[in-house]
Amino acid sequence: MAHIVCEPCKNCKYTDCVAVCPVECFHEADVILYIDPEECIDCGLCIPECPVEAIFADSDVPEKWQSYIELNAKLAPTLPVINATKEPLPTAPPRPHKG
Ligand code: SF4
Ligand code: F3S
Repeated sequence: MAHIVCEPCKNCKYTDCVAVCPVECFHEADVILYIDPEECIDCGLCIPECPVEAIFADSDVPEKWQSYIELNAKLAPTLPVINATKEPLPTAPPRPHKG
């Protein structure tokens, strides 16, 4: 099992998720982050951190985003680790209020 970054992260990259990950398994591409499934320990801490609900346990990935399971596994190891929060992309949607 692993956790998966899905489409809502694309053109967004809030990066709140990376601040809570205990094992540095987030990797950064130009417009999205990916999680390396070989590193992820399934702690689930990142899920509630994402303001646009982009992260799911692999067993919970919605049907329309199933392709992201392979994308994360394939691309994360080719990209640099990101372990510190930074400004989201200018294309990010407004940050929703936490309820
Ligand atoms: Fe990191 Fe835990 Fe999220 Fe996996 S589930 S990416 S280990 S915070
Ligand atoms: Fe992306 Fe959400 Fe993290 S937008 S960078 S998965 S906080």
